[in-house]
Formats: sequence, C-alpha cells, structure tokens
Amino acid sequence: MKKGKVDALLGIVFGDEGKGKVVDVFTPEYDVVARFAGGPNAGHTIIFEGQKFVLRSIPSGIFAKDKVNIIGNGCVIAPDLFMAEAKELEAAGYDLKERLHISKRAHLILPTHRVLDRAYEAAKGKAKVGTTGKGIGPTYSDKAARIGLRVGDILDRFEEKYAALKARHEQILKDLHYTDYDITDEEKLWLEGVEYLRGFHLTDTEIEINRYLKEGKNVLAEGAQGTMLDIDHGTYPFVSSSNTTSGGVCTGLGVGPTDIREVFGIFKAYSTRVGSGPFPVELFDETGDTLREVGHEYGAVTGRNRRCGWVDLVALKYAIMINGVTQLIMMKSDVMNDFETIRVATEYEVGGKRTSYFPYEVGDDLKPVYREFPGWKCDLRAFTRYEDFPAEFKAYVEFIERETGVPVKIISVGPDRGETIVR
Ligand code: IMP
Repeated sequence: MKKGKVDALLGIVFGDEGKGKVVDVFTPEYDVVARFAGGPNAGHTIIFEGQKFVLRSIPSGIFAKDKVNIIGNGCVIAPDLFMAEAKELEAAGYDLKERLHISKRAHLILPTHRVLDRAYEAAKGKAKVGTTGKGIGPTYSDKAARIGLRVGDILDRFEEKYAALKARHEQILKDLHYTDYDITDEEKLWLEGVEYLRGFHLTDTEIEINRYLKEGKNVLAEGAQGTMLDIDHGTYPFVSSSNTTSGGVCTGLGVGPTDIREVFGIFKAYSTRVGSGPFPVELFDETGDTLREVGHEYGAVTGRNRRCGWVDLVALKYAIMINGVTQLIMMKSDVMNDFETIRVATEYEVGGKRTSYFPYEVGDDLKPVYREFPGWKCDLRAFTRYEDFPAEFKAYVEFIERETGVPVKIISVGPDRGETIVR
C-alpha cells in the first residue's frame, strides 16, 4: 500500500491569514487534521453552516464528521479554555470525544503561567512583546527547562505535581514583586478543565499518526501564528515561543521530513501584524485604516487592532524559503476592491543601500521600496474563474508569482466557502 503523506497548511507571514476558511476547504481531501504548535494564542474563525466559531486549540477538521483531529505534542493546552471551546462545539452537535485525540506529550498551561506572562510583560515595560496573555511563553520556557507538566501527567499523581509547579511559579512571582493577583476562581475552573480533559482520548499521537500514514491515510498539518512569529526565524524577541514553521510539523507531530509532501503558504493580499515588533510596511494613514475597517482586522483572541500595510515581498520570500513553500494561497483579495492604486514592497533600503533580505534587526532607518500597481476597481466576488478576473488583478497576482517563483494556486475573494478560486 502506498504510504500516506503530510501536507502542511501554514500562515506564512505574521499569522491571521485566514487559515480557518482554507482548512475547511481543504479538509475533505484528508483523513486526519493535526495541530503541531502553539495553543490558545491562536484564534481561527470559522463560519460553518451559518454559525461562527473561534477555534483556539482544536483543529479545524472537527467540523467534518468523519475526520480524526489531533492536538500534537508540539502544542500547549489550557484545560479551562479547552473545556470552554470543546463544550461550545458539543452544544452545537459535534461529537468530540471519539474524534479528537490529544498528545500526552503536549504541555499544560497553568493559571500561574498566565500570571507569569503578565508579570514578564509588565517587567519589560516599553519593550513588551504584546503577547496574547495566554501563558504561552512561560509554558514553553518550562518545557525547555524540563520542569513543565504534560497532558500525560494528569493521569498519575497529578495534584502533587501541580502543587509543586504552582509553588515554584509563586516563588518567581514573589521574587518579581508581582503579588497583586488572585487565581482562586480561575484555578477552580482550570481544575474542572483537567477533569474534563481526562474524558478525552489522551494518547501517543506520534505513533497514531505514523500508523495512519502507513495505512495510506493523508494528514493535514494545520499551522498557527506565522513565520515572523517563529521562535527561531521570526522577529525575535517579538515572537511567539514555538516553531510555527514547517520544521515544527516534524517535531510537533513526530513525523519525518520525508513524510511531508506539499507546504501550502497562506498570505493576505496585504499585510497585518498584531502585537509589538518590527513591521516595515506598516501604514499609519487612511489607507491603513481602510484595510483594517474593510478587512475587519481585529484580533480573534484579544480583540486588539491589527497593524495594517502593503504586501511585503521581502518577508514573504523569506517565509517561502524557511518553510519550503510549494504553493501559495492568497486571501482577502476583495478587501482592496476600491483602491485606486496598490503597492508592494519589493526591497528594503537600509543606510542608503538596497537589500532584498530580511535583516537580523529592523532599525528606524529601514525603509521599504515600493512598486505601484493600478487597482482593479471592481468587486472580485463577481468572478468564479481566474481567466475572468480583471487584467489589473491578474497582473498583481502574476507579479507576486514571478518574484517569489511559487504559483498562487488558490485565491480567496470573500469569507464564504464558495468565494474561493482554485487555479
Ligand atoms: P504569545 O504567543 O501570546 O506569546 O504572543 C507573542 C506574539 O505573537 C505577540 O505579538 C502576539 O500578538 C503574536 N501572536 C500569537 N498568536 C498569534 C496569532 O494567532 N495570530 C497573530 N499573532 C499572534
């Protein structure tokens, strides 16, 4: 029997590319959908059968009733938030217990991890990362420090292990003079969440996934965040704390690199970033406001305003390189329907010199160099075939393809499932 393959579906710039919609379109092609990194810092908005859901930790394949969904070892999970997310889906009629399998190796986010997240951010002052406040960094720190609690720990002597790690966190908070917090209610809910989690299929998901592959089944690895938020390759220290790039698929699920077939890179027809950190193409003018308003660019988890700008080919090419992207998917093209002109950053100018590489550090003297295109000035939703798109829009898409050397295979022109043009 032919071995199955893993395809990765990744937001490849700053996250929030609209992966939720695409996973939904992709899911029918796969047997398994798996998350490999991150946790409830992610927020995938999915509109399914007229109902809107925001998924944080649960893979988007949960809506297709015959698929197995996996939360892999590379993820971190907050039992209380997981419970809320899962119960909402159960109330809407989705059966999770059978179809959602969770790695025993995934790490647990404790209430005190969230307090630590706030404490570390407060200590950083102006240099704060602008985290989602979900305890992501402190949880991955404990994982690397080899003191973290894993999902598998809830099955044996859990109270003892929990008390020890909590005490350790409390000591750190005391040392930081960060004592004005009360987790009583939060902890109660969190412990309820732990109990609830016990009712799920907690397993060695790496063995399970490899068994599926051997049986010829295909796996969709669903990314979260983006390349520029990757702990190694992002705009450090303004990053998240996991490997959000395609390398993370191997470590976060326990599959070999030769099992990966396609790497789908999702980007938006413009750019956004939420939180602090370098964003060379950021627009502070009316155009930026229009992108935010028309594109509804507000954080799915925190509700914060997203920073908006033009497409940044320097960042996009870097992301394509790091991930080994084989096909591009362009989202939210319709947001710029009314624009007279559209710009794309093709290079950066630093100290009078031009570069097409993303630098180690982005200083104040870095300026993007733009190329301008005429807008298409019509509603892209009216078209169902690529051939019929206006010449201006096709010129924009084909310029991106030429520059990146990667085909743009799917173009999304609206939030509905049908508003997706596959070439
Ligand atoms: P953390 O992951 O909560 O530690 O946040 C670190 C940085 O990553 C912050 O700038 C967040 O705004 C950003 N971030 C985390 N998750 C997401 C996401 O799903 N989309 C976009 N940005 C995110």
